[in-house]
Amino acid sequence: MKGVILAGGSGTRLYPLTRITNKHLLPIYDRPMISYAIEALVQAGVTELMVVSGGTHAGEFLRLLGSGHEHGVDLLVYAYQERPGGIAEALNLARPFVKDDPMVVMLADNIVERSLASAVANFGAQEKGARILLSRVDDVSHLRNLGVPRFDADHRVTSIVEKPDEPPSAYAVTGIYFYDPRVFDVIPTLEPSGRGELEITDVNNWFVSEGLMEWEEIDGFWGDAGESIDDYYAVNDFVRAHGANRH
Ligand code: TTP
Repeated sequence: MKGVILAGGSGTRLYPLTRITNKHLLPIYDRPMISYAIEALVQAGVTELMVVSGGTHAGEFLRLLGSGHEHGVDLLVYAYQERPGGIAEALNLARPFVKDDPMVVMLADNIVERSLASAVANFGAQEKGARILLSRVDDVSHLRNLGVPRFDADHRVTSIVEKPDEPPSAYAVTGIYFYDPRVFDVIPTLEPSGRGELEITDVNNWFVSEGLMEWEEIDGFWGDAGESIDDYYAVNDFVRAHGANRH
C-alpha cells in the first residue's frame, strides 16, 4: 500500500502564522506537524510515501525529511501543487507514484492518538473501494464545521454532508482516507466547488453512491490542528500530555 501525505493548501484559518510558513511545519509539541503523519503511516507499515506540498517553504520539507530513511521511510518522493486547488486536486498529483496500488491518504494537519495499523490491515483485506475513518464528536456546533456522514439502518454511509446546519450523525469524517486506484478515474470528473476546489467529499460520495464505501471509528483521540488557533493549541496540549501514534 502506498501512502500520500497532503501538506499543501493555504492554511488561512491559522493566519498570520501561515503567512510566513507552511502550516504543516508549525510545531506540535516537540516536532513539526508533518512528522506525526509520517510516523503514523510508517508505524502502520506503510513505508513508500509521497508528500504533496505547495506555497512557500516547500523546500523545508526536504530539509526536514530528506530521504526519509531516518524516519523509517523506504521511499520518499515529493510533489508540488502549484495552487491550492483542493484536497482532491492535491491527491491527483500522486497518480504517477501510486499507479495501480491501493493507497492511504492522510492530511498532514491530522493527529491521532493511536496506531493506524488495524485500519491499514482492514483496508488491505477489503477487496476494492474506499474506507474512511470516523471520529465521534458530541459538540453539534463543532460538527457544523466538518464533514458528517449520514447512515442507514444497517450503519452504512448513505452520504457525507459538508458543514451541515443539521448534522445527520455525531461522527466527523477525519482526514485519513483509503482508496483503490479507481480514485484517479473519479477525480478528473469532478467540478470545482463554490470555493473553486476539487473536494474530497465529492470523491467520497462517489464511492458511497457506488456502494463501495466502508468505514470504521478511529481509536482514541483525533485532532485537526488546522481548524482554528484554539484547535491547534488543543492538539498541542493533547500531544504534550499523552503523545501520539501510540500502539
Ligand atoms: P483545509 O484545512 O481544508 O485547507 P487549508 O489547509 O488550505 O486551510 P484553510 O481552510 O484554513 O485555508 O485542508 C486540509 C489539508 O489538506 C491541509 O492541511 C493540506 C491539504 N490540502 C492540500 O494539500 N492542498 C489543497 O489545495 C488544500 C485545500 C488542502
